[in-house]
Amino acid sequence: MSVGRKLLLAAAKSDRLNHFATKSRVVRRATTAFMPGERPEDALDAGARIAEGGRHLIYTRLGEALTALADADAVRDHYLWFFDAVQERKLPAQVSVKPTQLGLDQSESACLEHCLALAAKAEQTGSALWLDMEDSSYVDRTLALYEQVKARHPLTGLALQAYLFRTPKDLERLRATKPVVRLVKGAYAEPATVAFPRKADTDAAYERLAGTMLAWAKAGECRAVFGTHDMPLVSRIVARAAELGLAKGRYEVHMLYGIREREQRKLRAEGHAVTTLISYGSAWYRWYMRRLAERPANVWFVVRSMFG
Ligand code: FDA
Repeated sequence: MSVGRKLLLAAAKSDRLNHFATKSRVVRRATTAFMPGERPEDALDAGARIAEGGRHLIYTRLGEALTALADADAVRDHYLWFFDAVQERKLPAQVSVKPTQLGLDQSESACLEHCLALAAKAEQTGSALWLDMEDSSYVDRTLALYEQVKARHPLTGLALQAYLFRTPKDLERLRATKPVVRLVKGAYAEPATVAFPRKADTDAAYERLAGTMLAWAKAGECRAVFGTHDMPLVSRIVARAAELGLAKGRYEVHMLYGIREREQRKLRAEGHAVTTLISYGSAWYRWYMRRLAERPANVWFVVRSMFG
């Protein structure tokens, strides 16, 4: 892992920097490249414009690792409202949540209840719920949570991280559930005991896992979603799908708002199923630092927008 990436991921954990950044108007302005605004209405408006071009949407309200279980009730209530807002606006949108935002650290049973409530609401409103994958200490609990929610709400999806050594086994374990999987490379600072330290190894692992998911999608055993902005990798996935005779639309590419916008539109124009994940909310600091860490060159972009 590069020094720049390490420093940015360490800074993501700093409460002092969090406090400074979220209070600073200039830093807040710089975040607009990656999120249309803090308010849900900003996110809904931006999503409506994106959906006009034929892309689908996933929404997430930023925030993670609650300190009090009561805060999880408020997060659940927010998303219950948000599913109604999406339905009212007739947006082709789903919602992705972090289990720690719904109380995973405080009470696994309460977190499960919240996820079940959200997945049920998603079903009623013609949407679906996704579970993000957080750092490696949460993987066992998140898989168990996913299996329980998926058993009752089959459209529920889960993110799996290619950088973790354990992921091929986790994917295999989920196979019997006909999983809905968003494969990502992984965004957290992980020790070399659990994850590939070298990006090239993560990229190779991603491609192997993608091949498995495409084969399962072809057999009707998986909904395969590829969450990446790595365009050469996307091209190889598209080529592999074509070799397998898997039609466009039977697998999906998901990317983040503000990243590779031109390529997102191009893929859509070529007939691929493309979804844009839009984040909103005031607790953006940790998430934003991870976006900078993914591409340390973004720091210069931030500096420019602070002084420009
Ligand atoms: P890679 O890092 O190789 O980037 C490929 C290229 O994309 C770069 O060269 C650059 O051009 C561009 N790019 C990538 N990131 C950029 C950025 N921040 N700014 C500007 N350009 C950038 N992680 C996780 O641990 N748990 C999760 O649940 C999720 N969920 C999730 C959902 C979706 C829809 C996406 C797209 C990503 C996630 N992630 C995630 C994040 C993921 O793990 C990973 O950190 C990022 O997607 C960056 O990796 P890439 O696959 O894009 O490749």
